[in-house]
Amino acid sequence: MTELQYVESAKAHFGTLLQQQLERIERLSQEREWVNYSDHRPVIIGMIGGDGIGPTISAETKRILENLLLDEVTNGRIEFRVIDGLTIENRAEKMQAIPEDVLAKIKDCHVTLKGPTHTPEKGDGWPNIESANVRMRKELDLFANVRPVRIPQDGIDWTFFRENTEDLYAVGSQGINVTSDLAIDFRVITTPGSERIIEAAFAHAKRTGKTKVTVVTKANVVKTTDGKFLDIARIVAERYPTIEWDSWYIDIMTAKLLDPHRRRDFQVLVLPNLYGDILTDEAAEIQGGVGTAGSANLGKRYAMFEAIHGSAPRMVTEGRDKYADPSSLLRAGAMMLEHIGHDDLGIRLHKAIDICGQYEREISVTGRDSGATSSEFGDYIMATVGDSELESKWEGYVK
Ligand code: IPM
Ligand code: MG
Repeated sequence: MTELQYVESAKAHFGTLLQQQLERIERLSQEREWVNYSDHRPVIIGMIGGDGIGPTISAETKRILENLLLDEVTNGRIEFRVIDGLTIENRAEKMQAIPEDVLAKIKDCHVTLKGPTHTPEKGDGWPNIESANVRMRKELDLFANVRPVRIPQDGIDWTFFRENTEDLYAVGSQGINVTSDLAIDFRVITTPGSERIIEAAFAHAKRTGKTKVTVVTKANVVKTTDGKFLDIARIVAERYPTIEWDSWYIDIMTAKLLDPHRRRDFQVLVLPNLYGDILTDEAAEIQGGVGTAGSANLGKRYAMFEAIHGSAPRMVTEGRDKYADPSSLLRAGAMMLEHIGHDDLGIRLHKAIDICGQYEREISVTGRDSGATSSEFGDYIMATVGDSELESKWEGYVK
């Protein structure tokens, strides 16, 4: 092809992407209300095992949640469903990020709790299909990725509101190799997409008694898209005169999360997708590792809760899957309980995970036979969550 032909072909591709995004904005602009779970009976919870260590930690999480929700299940207010087939093997066979029949089952649930799923990368032996997480966030329009990080004894209580459907992720699989030497990806930031995540962050701050929202961008350099995100933050902030807000650049923010004098000041943080992806891994590491954090993917209609670590296929090939740590998925389960209106149970489960995983640590999971199995740790959590002394025990540790 001539240079002109390469350019023309790239322009045509770009044109299609623009058209798709404009149509998407149309859909986003048709605002809908957040689902109210008390209007639904039963509330259906889908348990998606995923692959690798996923089925092990998912089974453990289900056992604990079913125990906590025993009354609700018995009286028909809650139903659990196991959803199979979101495995790399099945996805590769069907050549779909989420096979159609699996997606239909997911859409029949109100909320799902998802174990890790392998994300193929060029050259790893699997077909290079899109990440199941990324696809699910788009398909179900799960625009708010909420990731709390708390270290009570250090005064850290952060809630990240990561935008979950736009930025470099929106068309991350649709970049263009204009020629063999020129690769271009596209960053998408829209007005309704920014507004709804920033609004969700401010609303959360107000609802939970927080006093400050921090907006993170790189608007000094990435002027058009981050510039828009920041402009919209200014507009949304005006609707919340009682909430203070400030704006930080992502580079200095990564440094300040490590600064003991500054980091306690941050409360609710809102940021575009990729910065949020990176910053929340750092934050989770400060809390004790990515395995200790849970993640909520919220949309107005659906919600999906997940572990934020990968599927650890090596643990399975080495026969160590039964030693996998269920903490991150349990954490996601606690967030799910809070989200569907069982705040009391969610808080108890969070406290039990803190006690078993961070403070008391009567047994610990090491990922191999030197430590407890997933199910032994599950028993420990179950005993702790049911302990009448749970509250005072937890208070004793965090003081
Ligand atoms: C996350 C993960 C995903 C992401 C991957 C698995 C696609 O890192 O949930 O943070 O980048 O969003
Ligand atoms: Mg990530």
